[in-house]
Amino acid sequence: MARANSRLKVLSIFGTRPEAIKMAPLIKALASEPGIDSQICITGQHQSMLQQVLDMFDLKAQYTLDVMTPGQTLNTLTAALYAAIDPVLEQARPDKVLVHGDTTSAMVAAMSAFHRRIPVGHVEAGLRTGDIHQPWPEEMNRRTIDLISDHLFTPTAESRRNVLGERLQGKSFVTGNTVIDALKMTAERIDQNRQLRVALDRQFNFLDPKRKLLVVTGHRRENFGDGFLDICKALRTLASRDDMQIVYPVHLNPNVLGPVTEHLGGLANVHLIKPLDYLSFVRLMQLAHVVLTDSGGVQEEAPSLGKPVLVMRDVTERPEAVAAGTARLVGTDPNTIVRGVCALFDDEQLWRRTSQTANPYGDGKACSRIVDALMGRPVDEFVAELPSRRSEAEEVHRQPMALRSVSSLH
Ligand code: UD1
Ligand code: UDP
Repeated sequence: MARANSRLKVLSIFGTRPEAIKMAPLIKALASEPGIDSQICITGQHQSMLQQVLDMFDLKAQYTLDVMTPGQTLNTLTAALYAAIDPVLEQARPDKVLVHGDTTSAMVAAMSAFHRRIPVGHVEAGLRTGDIHQPWPEEMNRRTIDLISDHLFTPTAESRRNVLGERLQGKSFVTGNTVIDALKMTAERIDQNRQLRVALDRQFNFLDPKRKLLVVTGHRRENFGDGFLDICKALRTLASRDDMQIVYPVHLNPNVLGPVTEHLGGLANVHLIKPLDYLSFVRLMQLAHVVLTDSGGVQEEAPSLGKPVLVMRDVTERPEAVAAGTARLVGTDPNTIVRGVCALFDDEQLWRRTSQTANPYGDGKACSRIVDALMGRPVDEFVAELPSRRSEAEEVHRQPMALRSVSSLH
């Protein structure tokens, strides 16, 4: 609740690309709330990939830290973050700290606030795979943050159930995911401006209009090593199809950039490109036939854009799109990835069913709900759209891949 004679001082601390994308619309909403004095601290866990987002959303940070080192380890990063964030809390003296998701920046910022007895609000609370090693270290980070948070902004009913089941102390609100707010703002900007579309499309003038587009992203730590070699193997096989072209904006982590460039560089049908700014990446997803990813954010965005998404993980903390039939888990086994992608390229009916637009993650109003909760106003919670009624045959495709035998795949 805002104090009687002064504004509520809210410090949002974040440091990576996805946090910036998902916090950007919230920062805008906080800034336009008269009862809130909103400040931003950028940890610098990411540099160029984060700067692109700040530029696009025109965000200015009051505190900019510089913790990124090339190929940083989790422990050196964690230590650097604790050392850098504490003086900011000392100087800013916020009433509340907001963090997002499950990165090391978010975990250390939340813990640092906790150590100073500053209430924490966790945006995107309650996501769980149930396996502490997947994703790693994110499942541990988000559980830690949830444990100490006062406000748990859970995106969906499922994530709310998770925090209630753990009997956490914080107060939970089902808000929808702020990524849908960011996506809606961005997609509307593209859809309403033909000139902008033409300019964005110019970046992709290497695309062949006769081939359908597979958009790929991948960067998870638990896939480093063999996982990435298997992903590259699958993409090499898929690249031999003459009806397909692959665009892969490669994450700057050297553990990703190295193997991907070594094993896929120079293949005529595979376009390895630098990480795109958010506007360009949303446009690329709009142009896609199918999206193949291990990313959390992309799993949430693709269903909203009506794009089938295959998820290169064994388990997901985002089961809603799998249940809605627009996402499937394919892990990193090359044969399973190839079969999953080929099924969607070969079977028009399957593609049609899977490409239905679904919004299980939000309705674009998550940020205003979070502001209402912070101000102590009643919160009109998010209720997901139910997937449209499907035939019995279609129900087969809605089952999570993990629950079906691989041989039953198309
Ligand atoms: C981090 C998060 C992960 C999130 C991902 C989003 C942790 C432990 N991991 O993973 O949860 O899904 O961001 O992308 O918090 N690098 C650059 N420039 C950049 C960004 C990264 O060069 O702008 C390189 C650096 O060499 C850096 C390395 O990537 O050391 C790894 O960055 P790091 O933030 O540790 O891990 P990510 O794999 O990016
Ligand atoms: N994204 C982007 N440019 C790219 C690839 C992805 O802007 O070249 C966006 C994407 O739309 C999503 C977010 O980055 O919103 C996902 O970030 P990432 O995959 O790095 O992290 P994760 O979501 O897995 O934590």
